Amino acid sequence: MKEYSLALVGATGVVGREARKVLEEMKLPISKYVFFASSKSAGTKIEFMGKEYEVKELKEDSFDEGFDFAVFSAGGETSKKFSPIASSKGAIVVDNSSAFRMDKDVPLVVPEVNPEEIFRNHGIIANPNCSTIQAVVPLKVLDDKYKIKRIVYSTYQAVSGAGKNGIEDLESGIDGYVNNTKNELKKFPHQIFNNCLPDIDIAMESGYTKEEEKMINETRKILGKPDLAVTATCVRVPVFNSHSESINVEFENEFDLKELVESLKNSDGIRVQDNLENHEYPLATNATGHNEVFVGRIRRDFSVKSGINFWCVADNIRKGAATNALQIVKYIIEHME
Ligand SMILES: NC(=O)c1ccc[n+]([C@@H]2O[C@H](COP(=O)([O-])OP(=O)(O)OC[C@H]3O[C@@H](n4cnc5c(N)ncnc54)[C@H](OP(=O)(O)O)[C@@H]3O)[C@@H](O)[C@H]2O)c1
Repeated sequence: MKEYSLALVGATGVVGREARKVLEEMKLPISKYVFFASSKSAGTKIEFMGKEYEVKELKEDSFDEGFDFAVFSAGGETSKKFSPIASSKGAIVVDNSSAFRMDKDVPLVVPEVNPEEIFRNHGIIANPNCSTIQAVVPLKVLDDKYKIKRIVYSTYQAVSGAGKNGIEDLESGIDGYVNNTKNELKKFPHQIFNNCLPDIDIAMESGYTKEEEKMINETRKILGKPDLAVTATCVRVPVFNSHSESINVEFENEFDLKELVESLKNSDGIRVQDNLENHEYPLATNATGHNEVFVGRIRRDFSVKSGINFWCVADNIRKGAATNALQIVKYIIEHME
């Protein structure tokens, strides 16, 4: 079997670190790995698959040696500058940033939803936003069966979604509460400890945040429904990891609730946990460390003719970023020949 090579850009970040764990678990036929970061982390040593690797500084000639794959998790600016270089040197880029997601020529892929898009790439494949990925996995199943008419998202997003600095803001807030010290903020505009902030990414002219616009536009693109009615309110909550979402969906067609739940249970990448009497439903602490999307609290929305509410939780660093990106790599390897 052919052996591949992979460059991981942003290998020292929150997503990069998880990507190394997922790579160890996936056991892909990759025999050469190179880990890149900024000059700040260059030279640091990391343990990977029982071997020690030195982190290299990302430079314009970094891809000259040739890679089959380059997975980017180093922010939009780094992706914009270096992804085209990597792909021009022959690598298939899977990009975790929002730099290319809405480009017409760049597939936006969740392997359980639209794997057929992968081979329409021109060198760059975009990994969707974390909050969108976990939502579209169950939504695709529902759209195929009942034809979605409208979606209302309300998210409860973990601080790990804002990278290392987001995690440190919550840690500092907890420390401040316990030890009566000042809550130093590196990422958020207000203390996240003991608060919910309806303010993720930047403010847009529409009155929405960029995170909300990403969820709306990316959902339409991934489901292939450019005119779908979608709205979103995205909120950062003081949870370390795994995003939770309340999703309200209205359908064109009638449905049977039992059948609907069964179809979610029988779908790849979804785990249904739905027994309210026993207090069983998806929880952030349970989803963390897993690759699946957890779904529960599935119930009829009695305010419309045909619709449901459900609760959806996933590890935003895994399925929302690292796992999804590496599932794309895996899919390409398995379908290359
Ligand atoms: N966190 C999530 O839930 C999530 C989900 C989906 C997508 N994403 C996206 O994934 C990307 C990384 O997010 P993160 O949460 O892992 O951020 P992070 O924890 O802040 O890590 C950023 C990584 O990028 C590297 N980096 C920064 N500037 C660089 C440069 N000029 N050249 C090379 N490497 C550079 C950093 O290296 P140093 O160690 O040298 O600073 C670090 O490895 C972002 O685009 C983010 O939007 C994140």
